[in-house]
Amino acid sequence: MKTEFLIRDAIALDMAGIARVHTEGWRTGYAGIMPEEFLRGRSVEKSRALWEKKFAEQSGLILVAERGGGICGFVSGGKAREGLPGFDSELYAIYVDQNARGLGAGAALLGAFFGRQAALGARSCALWVLEENPSRKFYEKLGGELLPLRKPCQFGGKPLVEVAYGWRALRAGSLFS
Ligand SMILES: CC(C)(COP(=O)(O)OP(=O)(O)OC[C@H]1O[C@@H](n2cnc3c(N)ncnc32)[C@H](O)[C@@H]1OP(=O)(O)O)[C@@H](O)C(=O)NCCC(=O)NCCS
Repeated sequence: MKTEFLIRDAIALDMAGIARVHTEGWRTGYAGIMPEEFLRGRSVEKSRALWEKKFAEQSGLILVAERGGGICGFVSGGKAREGLPGFDSELYAIYVDQNARGLGAGAALLGAFFGRQAALGARSCALWVLEENPSRKFYEKLGGELLPLRKPCQFGGKPLVEVAYGWRALRAGSLFS
């Protein structure tokens, strides 16, 4: 049976929790993919400042997943940025606490995000993910189509490649949960 998560819009006070989940998500999710020293250099404080700025700009959608009164995951996104032809919205980041993974929070966040984007008028959504990231399977499981797009990137001096997944027919209302 799937665990129940409350999915809601983020408020300003959530930025500290989002920064914690995000920073831990990088440390645990990208260990062995990005250089260790680079990952150790990521700080919750710096991340919090960036999330507070992003929230204040109100330029996109940020949803959080709560369990037992605390934030255990988030998703953020908005208009598709350059390089995703044919897609009008983009998921910029989705992270779930390591101890809450595999319980349905990610699917609930993704479904709610797509539903909200559709309600805002988006017809499709795409995202970039590191080619080596095992979380790619999550997107495949949830119907993402591997797009014929590749983008070189660099983290901590290490050259890596991002690939893209797309969903071409969003509909209003939450999917997957
Ligand atoms: C990717 C992530 C958000 C998924 O969240 P989650 O809460 O663990 O996902 P769910 O429990 O909702 O999983 C939904 C389905 O995807 C599958 N899935 C999730 N992660 C998977 C993985 N790494 N490999 C294979 N399948 C996976 C689950 O088994 C589940 O399938 P089921 O319905 O048949 O049981 C989470 O693993 C995470 O935060 N990863 C690290 C950060 C990251 O890489 N984010 C993506 C950046 S682009």
